[in-house]
Amino acid sequence: MAKTLRRLITALTAAVAAVGLFTVAPANAATDDVSPLVVGGSRARIADHPWTVYLASSSGGQFCGGTLVSADKVVTAAHCTRGRTPASTRVVWGREDKQSSAGVVASVTRIWTHPSYRSATAGYDVSVLTLDRDLASPYLPLATPADTALYTAGTNATVLGWGATSSGGSASRYLLKATVPVIADTGCKRSYPQYNSTAMVCAGYPQGGTDTCQGDSGGPMVVNGKLIGATSWGKGCASAGYPGVYARIASYHAELAQQIAS
Ligand code: ARG
Repeated sequence: MAKTLRRLITALTAAVAAVGLFTVAPANAATDDVSPLVVGGSRARIADHPWTVYLASSSGGQFCGGTLVSADKVVTAAHCTRGRTPASTRVVWGREDKQSSAGVVASVTRIWTHPSYRSATAGYDVSVLTLDRDLASPYLPLATPADTALYTAGTNATVLGWGATSSGGSASRYLLKATVPVIADTGCKRSYPQYNSTAMVCAGYPQGGTDTCQGDSGGPMVVNGKLIGATSWGKGCASAGYPGVYARIASYHAELAQQIAS
């Protein structure tokens, strides 16, 4: 694309307040290639990301995302499960369209929240749900402390969820995905003084426009077929200079692996 055209698109994009990555409503999918508001989000096939699940209340309302990491374990964010009981929580697997009845609605028998969790911005934003049944593979493997390369600045990560399609907007009916580059710890610290490079990893574009948003929390951030992050927090969604922050899965590998094995 010509540089001037790119600049124009960037300017138009910036002109629209808080354009979420997931701004592209599915209804606009056919016009993705001509709309200046298309900033990178697109429909994702559940079959291509079968370990992507969502958390729902007992009445069925989706409120967070998660990742199936073994037959009966889901990794999500601690702020998604805080204050919830297993009885009030469901995991929906294999359902790309929230308005369909595809897939399986599993019940939750146990919720483990990281014992040091206090708030998302203070870190430890991870939890593990145990399901009442076994779900089919594939399961997404966790990044380990040896996977430092997956966190290198500039690495493209895939983020997925059914969350809001703009800051303050409503949640998506369909599973959406976006690609966001991992940002260096120094850059993230400049955006957020409370950023902790052990507990978190952040990703996004300097100009914003592409991001996770409310309702995507707990959902997967994937690099090279491994879970490297869980959607955690950010200032607004997709705003320039304020990337998305994700729980750094590799830092919690030992505790998560112990929960997954138990
Ligand atoms: N805390 C939000 C949730 O509960 C996720 C926010 C992610 N924000 C962002 N700018 N990436 O769904």
